[in-house]
Amino acid sequence: MNVLVIGGGGREHTLCWKIKQSKDCDQLFAAPGNAGTASCATNLPIDVNDFEGIKKAVLAHDIQLVIVGPEDPLVNGIHDFFLKDPLLSSVGVIGPQKEAATLEGSKAYAKAFMMRHNIPTAAYAEFTSETLAEGEAFLEQSNPPYVLKADGLAAGKGVLIIDDLETAKRELGEMLLESKFGAASKKVVIEEFLAGIELSCFVLTDGSSYLTLPMAKDYKRIGEGDTGLNTGGMGAISPVPFVTEEFKEKIETQIIKPTIEGLKKDNLPFKGFVFIGLIKVGEEPKVIEYNVRMGDPETEVVIPRIKNDFLAILKAVNEERLDTVTLEIDSSAAATVMAVSGGYPEAYEKGKTISGLKQLDGKMIFHAGTKQEGDSIKTSGGRVLAITSFGKHHQEAVKSSYEILSKIKYEGINYRSDIGFDL
Ligand code: AMP
Ligand code: GLY
Repeated sequence: MNVLVIGGGGREHTLCWKIKQSKDCDQLFAAPGNAGTASCATNLPIDVNDFEGIKKAVLAHDIQLVIVGPEDPLVNGIHDFFLKDPLLSSVGVIGPQKEAATLEGSKAYAKAFMMRHNIPTAAYAEFTSETLAEGEAFLEQSNPPYVLKADGLAAGKGVLIIDDLETAKRELGEMLLESKFGAASKKVVIEEFLAGIELSCFVLTDGSSYLTLPMAKDYKRIGEGDTGLNTGGMGAISPVPFVTEEFKEKIETQIIKPTIEGLKKDNLPFKGFVFIGLIKVGEEPKVIEYNVRMGDPETEVVIPRIKNDFLAILKAVNEERLDTVTLEIDSSAAATVMAVSGGYPEAYEKGKTISGLKQLDGKMIFHAGTKQEGDSIKTSGGRVLAITSFGKHHQEAVKSSYEILSKIKYEGINYRSDIGFDL
């Protein structure tokens, strides 16, 4: 079958790398892809939100299955676009329809879903510009730190955690009245602060049955020891050592099952990945957020640990027979370390030549922000390369990734040298 992966980051390179290994994969395409996907797929220069452009490509290349990597096209309704078009309606799409994608597209929608289905999460209230005074009063009655979340998609920047009441009130005003996060902060969710350690849980569902994929932990801050600005993710490890069988069982019964059941009860068809951001408070799991896609860089450690033919699994999702699949997971630990551009996540330069990649053929080097220019591969984004390795435990895996990284050079290269430090 011919397959298209939508997106152009490390997540999409990893998905292409895995799908290409399937005996069922004839031609593989990535839109827009990057220099990494070009090594295992044909890149198509189409924006992820250009649905008409994607339609043309799907018809021209006789594509039967589309895997949507990032959240934007899902929240914008790419799956509904396919279903409504007679020429596309028989093409499989992995990724939920617009209504279910709102679990990621609106924090207030996700909170209401969790309340309705009794899924453990932080207590909350939501406010708009009309209810700003109530919001301020709510903050006055709450305890610090104050957690303020822009309701809509804000590229991972819409959450503020503030210690001081006056600052929290000012920020609330800026979000609601001055569009601090654009349209995303027309509504703001104020949440109880939860103290604990975070982890990422991935569930693949066909809408009725589901598979729990390996859990992972990502490292979001730019600086060692989890300091400095937030990034898209600087590294990840899988499995997560503090997830015992008992804790896994709690996640399954208190969170995953009610989530999948809740989708069914609410009549929200869902073929795709549910990424549940969790926090372990004492011994209890609570949901921080839902995403409707795989995580990046978590994909770079989760997918390599899956031993099954991954395209066969995605076909089973599309054909609603996921209950016939048994996951086979590599018991080794996987770690990925992200090499970024100097300056990232603030201003940075692109177009730096990357050297050292040729001698590392066969290693799991997943491209995030790279571009082929003639014979050379150049940096083209903040996050550049994710280096994944296996080991007996995550320390060994991380060490192998650092050895590989020591052979890769580009001007301004930066990475965290402490991935997994807290475990
Ligand atoms: P979100 O976009 O909702 O995942 O939030 C981004 C980050 O903010 C999370 O990964 C957490 O580190 C932090 N965060 C969000 N909500 C809470 C909360 N209720 N308590 C503590 N930290 C939170
Ligand atoms: N690594 C977190 C995310 O993909 O949102």
